[in-house]
Amino acid sequence: MAHDEVSGTDTSASDSSAVETTRGASTGTVVIASDVANPGEPPHRQRVTDTDPRAAKRAARSVYTLFYLSIAGSVFAVAAYMAFPIEDGDPTALRLNNLFLGIGIALSLFGIGLGAVHWGKALMHDKEGIDERHPVRGTDATVARAVEIFDEADRESGFGRRTLIRNSLIGALVAFPLPGLVLFRGFGPQDQNPPELLSHTMWKKGARLTLDPSGIPVKASDVTIGSVFHIIPEGLNERHDKLEQKAKAAVLLMRLNPDDLNISPEREGWSYDGIVAYSKICTHVGCPVALYEHQTHHLLCPCHQSTFDVVNECEVIFGPAKRALPQLPIEVDSDGYLVAQSDFHEPVGPSFWERS
Ligand code: FES
Repeated sequence: MAHDEVSGTDTSASDSSAVETTRGASTGTVVIASDVANPGEPPHRQRVTDTDPRAAKRAARSVYTLFYLSIAGSVFAVAAYMAFPIEDGDPTALRLNNLFLGIGIALSLFGIGLGAVHWGKALMHDKEGIDERHPVRGTDATVARAVEIFDEADRESGFGRRTLIRNSLIGALVAFPLPGLVLFRGFGPQDQNPPELLSHTMWKKGARLTLDPSGIPVKASDVTIGSVFHIIPEGLNERHDKLEQKAKAAVLLMRLNPDDLNISPEREGWSYDGIVAYSKICTHVGCPVALYEHQTHHLLCPCHQSTFDVVNECEVIFGPAKRALPQLPIEVDSDGYLVAQSDFHEPVGPSFWERS
């Protein structure tokens, strides 16, 4: 067994033979470590801050100024987010919000990054070291040496001694995530209560049932027994938030033989001559319930196969949904068009919201 001077480890016989093989196989291309003279360390060059205390002081001032600049950037980003709110349909407001928020976050990151680099380059101990390779073993001596290194690093970096720099850095690191936290506010609807928003849809008394996506009103006479229509409320296509509204208000309209429907007393009058309207939003996790089995009168959600029985007020007969599809009460207006009597009587969609 031989000792490798470069790595400081022992090499086995097989390793030696591998070297020999390599030496023979690719002469002229392989560099053998023992053939290269160790160039040694370049001569040490002192920095200005090592020899001039005033330069060191100036450097320290620059470092904590940069960390304070980072804090100012974070605070600026939070203030900009509040001062330039994103208004619906106003691209200028969006541009200003993004611009000033970006400037604040950039300043914040720039201050921390440049301050840390400047601290390391100008003030921390400047000494070249050689880290010899060795087996990774957690012996007592290694642990003791690690502790020694940490102490030494603390001494040489001045982390414990230069309290102004250290504290300003801690302040900058604490302030930096604040804009990120504030940004979460932007994910929710502005000035509105999410549960309240999810509890209501566009449907109201007299709103015509129209075809999705054309928006053409539907007459009761158009709906033959066995047919099914995808329905949206009248006026939805003209709204700027039509996707959000559609996600709550989409409805499936079907006509069955009136004698086949089992209607509970409190829902008498919610349908018209066998025509019934139910929310299309699955009560499991909100996929569109898009499949209607004409023979069985079952509605099927393709996401996780929840199945709803139209004959029995869309109660769940299979799958993970826990709640029947909400029914939209409908009637016919004087022109023969199908209209809503009101909004749904319960929130549509997934059942995990607190319900009043
Ligand atoms: S979303 Fe409909 S079954 Fe899961």
